[in-house]
Amino acid sequence: MLKNSQHSYGQLTRALHWLSALAVIAALAFIEVKDFFPKGTALRDAMKFGHFQAGLIVLLVVLPRLLWRVNNRVPDITPTPNKPSLLLAHVTHWALYALMLALPLLGIAIVQGSGHTRLSLACRCRCCFRSAGQPRTT
Ligand code: HEM
Repeated sequence: MLKNSQHSYGQLTRALHWLSALAVIAALAFIEVKDFFPKGTALRDAMKFGHFQAGLIVLLVVLPRLLWRVNNRVPDITPTPNKPSLLLAHVTHWALYALMLALPLLGIAIVQGSGHTRLSLACRCRCCFRSAGQPRTT
């Protein structure tokens, strides 16, 4: 079933959940692995490129995910947790949504602010990594 029911999450909710989870994990993995490669190398640039792409996918997925979330019921938890636990779960979920929006937007702002204006999904352009012909050193 595509939509959530009283007892379980629907297929679309699950697909959006796992897609965003994998994209966040990939973004973190790329940016951490980047440090294994010396500055100025193609592999380091490729890791940064992978980070940008995965982060952009997070942003693209979180928007339909939020729309789907506000237009769908959430399955009941059984047995029903106490009120403080429910409140904490609610606050945590919305904080995660906020982070999935804010982190890619801040990342884009950093990249654009550094003068690399042609950032786009799947754009394998060297402009993502180099400025005015100078190799990036980060
Ligand atoms: C959910 C998505 C994202 C997560 C979780 C995330 C997370 C991170 C983390 C953990 C770092 C390393 C910070 C450090 O230790 O120095 C980082 C760095 C960075 N991120 Fe993201 N990021 C995301 C999306 C993006 C996007 C979409 C962009 C741009 C298109 C971006 C651009 C950058 C840049 C430019 C850096 C600095 C890289 C460097 O060291 O030169 N991020 N990000």
